[in-house]
Amino acid sequence: MRRILVLHGPNLNLLGTREQSVYGNQSLDSIDSALIKLAQDLGVEVDVRQSNRGVEVDVRQSNSEGELVNWIQESGTGYQGIIINPAAYTHTSIAIRDALAAVGLPTVEVHLSNIHQREPFRHHSHVAGVALGQISGLGPTGYLLALRGLHDHLSAQKKFKKSSPGSRRQKSASR
Ligand code: DQA
Repeated sequence: MRRILVLHGPNLNLLGTREQSVYGNQSLDSIDSALIKLAQDLGVEVDVRQSNRGVEVDVRQSNSEGELVNWIQESGTGYQGIIINPAAYTHTSIAIRDALAAVGLPTVEVHLSNIHQREPFRHHSHVAGVALGQISGLGPTGYLLALRGLHDHLSAQKKFKKSSPGSRRQKSASR
């Protein structure tokens, strides 16, 4: 079973009520449910972990970068890909970028809003440089497209590994 880790960054637990004109009115739970449903359709297992769900949003906020980093590190075993909306950490966190680079799993970066159309401080993403791709501005659909894209990427990678003569040569050379 293919396992994809889905990580939501800070303040995304407030979706549905938070700045609705920017982020829409869909809650994170309903985004997660749609993702899980699509994963079932694709035959992928999605592990949705979420920082700050619940009441202690402010208290846990300062820890969540580290928590996200820990989760990314742990994903090195048992997962084949990551979908991440690092939220504000997109623009600040070299630690999250480094963790993603260290683990080396194909990663799709998702943003509900189009970060390139917003304030200049949101235009730069530390994560984009280590991501397979970035989806920005398509709202909750972005998560679903990310899952489809990652699934297709992993399937293509698997096929390529199987059929590549280079991979056979490497195998026999290492014997
Ligand atoms: C966001 C965009 C970020 O700039 C912002 O800090 C968020 C959400 C998005 O999904 O559009 O919290 O990642």
